[in-house]
Amino acid sequence: MRQKMKIYVTGVAGMLGYGIYRTLHSRAEITGMDLLDIKIPGLSYRVLSLFDTDAVEKSIVEAGPDVLIHAAAYVNVDGCEQEPEYARRLNTQVTEHLADICGRHGIKMAYISTDAVFDGADPKLYTEDDPVNPINVYGRTKLDGETAVLRYPGNLVFRTNIYGLNIQKKRSFGEWVYCSLKQGETLNMFTDIDFSPILVDELAELLYEACAKGLDGRFHACGTGCITKYDFGIKLKEIFQIESGEIRRAVSSDAGLKAKRSKHMGMSNEKLTSALQIPVSTPQESIEKFYQLCKREAFL
Ligand SMILES: NC(=O)c1ccc[n+]([C@@H]2O[C@H](COP(=O)([O-])OP(=O)(O)OC[C@H]3O[C@@H](n4cnc5c(N)ncnc54)[C@H](OP(=O)(O)O)[C@@H]3O)[C@@H](O)[C@H]2O)c1
Repeated sequence: MRQKMKIYVTGVAGMLGYGIYRTLHSRAEITGMDLLDIKIPGLSYRVLSLFDTDAVEKSIVEAGPDVLIHAAAYVNVDGCEQEPEYARRLNTQVTEHLADICGRHGIKMAYISTDAVFDGADPKLYTEDDPVNPINVYGRTKLDGETAVLRYPGNLVFRTNIYGLNIQKKRSFGEWVYCSLKQGETLNMFTDIDFSPILVDELAELLYEACAKGLDGRFHACGTGCITKYDFGIKLKEIFQIESGEIRRAVSSDAGLKAKRSKHMGMSNEKLTSALQIPVSTPQESIEKFYQLCKREAFL
């Protein structure tokens, strides 16, 4: 029998990091590191900063993974705009350093990137061959991270747009919509921004299968099709059967956001689904899975 895949996850206590553990722990040996020190039953990981480069290398080498999934990042898009130096250090320089460590130790690296590498000027589903043109610091620093990772053969880049359940106090887009509506709030949701969201648990499955099959290069690992932020809210309200709260139509230019946002962030996952022969949920199916997950994890 094939040995269990050994996976090292940076940011393992984050939304995606913990989603990887929740989804894959019975199939893979998972460890990793995070700044945050919390107890996760069954998971042992190192509490470290990614800027502590010697300690990070030692931790990775000791774990001896087959794959390193680099999920940690400065993900706050407006925060990146206000702290561009910090965003570059964490999103680009740390990624360069990890790619170097993985290269020297023969470890495959899977880097989690973003749809924010596109300017979103064209209302289409972007493919891996479409030209990139990030319009904010987050997108630029993540794109430079992609370049660093793909300098080494065998590495994988997954561009995505995720939501899911956090074990930290932070709230993903889906959690924010649910909690705000439950509290009876009125949400102004954008009708002029569309995206291809995927639940972190489904992304974890795709990561596992892509690594097991030895895929390399750049893939769009997102939901099938796209949806506006407003329609996502409406569908979530319906599927979760939430009576309270209200969702109003809004446009992003009225929201006073600090960083520019791409309007059309929809991506095509065809390259990945063809390579893996695995279907990926549409937004509706994804929200239904999110509902089942929230019930299972007693979040509701
Ligand atoms: N969330 C989205 O909508 C989205 C969309 C597209 C792509 N992505 C990409 O998906 C990946 C995962 O995102 P996520 O939403 O799961 O992020 P997350 O919940 O913020 O998880 C990242 C984890 O990394 C930790 N971390 C941050 N700085 C660190 C450092 N210097 N040393 C060690 N750990 C550190 C964070 O700790 P703190 O919480 O203490 O900072 C957090 O626990 C990222 O690469 C992101 O760029 C996310």
